[in-house]
Amino acid sequence: METFKNKIAESLAKKTNIDFNILSEVIEVPTNEEFGDFSFPCFQLSKILKIAPTIVAKSIAEDLEIKGIEKIEAIGPYINFFIDKKNLANVVIKNILKKGDKYGSSLVGIGKTVVIDFSSVNIAKPFHIGHLKSTAIGNSLYKIYSFLGYQCVGVNHVGDWGTQFGKLIVAFKKWGDDKKKYSVKDLVSLYVKFHKEAEKDEGLNEEARGVFKKLEANEIEYVSLWRMFRELSLKEFKRVYKLLNIKFDSWNGESFYNDKVGDVVAMLEEKKMLEKSRGAYIVDLEKFNMPPCIVKRSDGASLYATRDLAAIFYRKKEYNFYKTLYVVGNAQQLHFKQIFKVVELMGFGWADDLIHVDFGTVSLQEGAMSTRKGIVVYLEDVLNESIIKVNEILKNKGLTSTEQNSLAKKIGIGAVIFSALFVGRQSDSTFLWEKVLNFEGDSSPYAQYTYVRIRSLIKKVNKNINNNINYSLLCHENELSLLKLLSEFPNVITEAASRYEPSVVARYVIELAKYFNKFYHNCPVINLENEDLQNARVSLCVATSIVIKSGLNLLGVDCPEKM
Ligand code: ARG
Repeated sequence: METFKNKIAESLAKKTNIDFNILSEVIEVPTNEEFGDFSFPCFQLSKILKIAPTIVAKSIAEDLEIKGIEKIEAIGPYINFFIDKKNLANVVIKNILKKGDKYGSSLVGIGKTVVIDFSSVNIAKPFHIGHLKSTAIGNSLYKIYSFLGYQCVGVNHVGDWGTQFGKLIVAFKKWGDDKKKYSVKDLVSLYVKFHKEAEKDEGLNEEARGVFKKLEANEIEYVSLWRMFRELSLKEFKRVYKLLNIKFDSWNGESFYNDKVGDVVAMLEEKKMLEKSRGAYIVDLEKFNMPPCIVKRSDGASLYATRDLAAIFYRKKEYNFYKTLYVVGNAQQLHFKQIFKVVELMGFGWADDLIHVDFGTVSLQEGAMSTRKGIVVYLEDVLNESIIKVNEILKNKGLTSTEQNSLAKKIGIGAVIFSALFVGRQSDSTFLWEKVLNFEGDSSPYAQYTYVRIRSLIKKVNKNINNNINYSLLCHENELSLLKLLSEFPNVITEAASRYEPSVVARYVIELAKYFNKFYHNCPVINLENEDLQNARVSLCVATSIVIKSGLNLLGVDCPEKM
């Protein structure tokens, strides 16, 4: 991709024979413009070459020429690069207008498949606010990787198997009502009741284990109850995905692997990796400072880990993936480390292509949730509340009620998604309505609003931007910094993909909106006598609107045209 950073890294690579990616990571954007638009510190190179950094800087900078870079100078251990500002607008805007919503996309991923295991909700359990991050991050990575040419497979690895179904069936048979139409909330209440009762009556847990065993053995009555729980849950969950506008390519959940775990156990046995421990079968991981990975319980039942192992081999065969991303909270770090290690020990080099994209928690002001205690905040409720709040804000703005409703949905849903993406994925965050729906803050409504404002000002000026634009007129400080930022969009996407970090895109979009608003504040567009300058500014507006919309789309946030 032709960005300034890439061009610099390329020419440095040519000159030093060092890998492009290594060099590219070292290039910085100096905080002080005096030191150029990009800067390359030579400390690392100096270590590799065993030459003083100042000398390295000097000898590399000497007769280095890069298209679009006007000045290259060695200052101490740094090489500073100055973009040719007269040509900046010409290069950047033309490129964006030519590529349109494809600007920033690439073909690096062509022929490679990325499996993205995300959202992965649990049957008969709440689809709660804790699932927001996995759902939003996974969906955004799906879009980002697709934008880079990869074939993506979005998998909802539904939690539809395990001992909890024994508990639920016991509860249903004891306290349930055959004639009633059940919702997930009802099932959750049954589950909560089971735990309360089991505190008093030890025997209940025993009973549940027995029932689960019979379920695994396909006992027809239990299978049909299980199926009923599964269907009603999925029906409700799909309502939430519809609100979020998220689709999956596969719904193969844990139960799908029930008949495939045997092969995994057999493979492990053949490789002499299984050990018997207190009746259970385990893979010992002590050498790697991890507790053992249990693959078969003493009663013969499979476990979460076994089903995940089966899923890995199934997916390798089915998709021959280049990478599989598991977008799952950091509470499961150990689980993934264990199963990836097992695959590695089995001798499969591609174990390195399994990646746990972990993330921190989202908490609420009200405090922690607990399914067992029945303290739960449903994601669907949060989304609907957001729509209601936005509807309230949009009242009396002269919109028809259909317009207002559809707008409230785009803004309300987008804001909740965006809030999960703005913070770096590994940090914990708190969900605060004042932040999520702050139209002037680091929120998607702010970006959407900026986009709509740009579109409407373009309409007001009503200019047909043609080919004869004098781009060199765009030389105001705010124009130049906006242009520079626009030129970085392709790098931003690559970085987000390589770090599995949609927040890079989210932060960029906000920064872009801020830069635009600064430009618009200081550089008039509508009331402008100089028509040539107006033309050039309108084209800058168009380019900015394209990139804001693209950025929001990659986050899974819809962009309205009117607001
Ligand atoms: N259902 C699991 C949970 O809610 C997440 C599943 C993640 N994916 C996986 N392949 N283990 O904790």
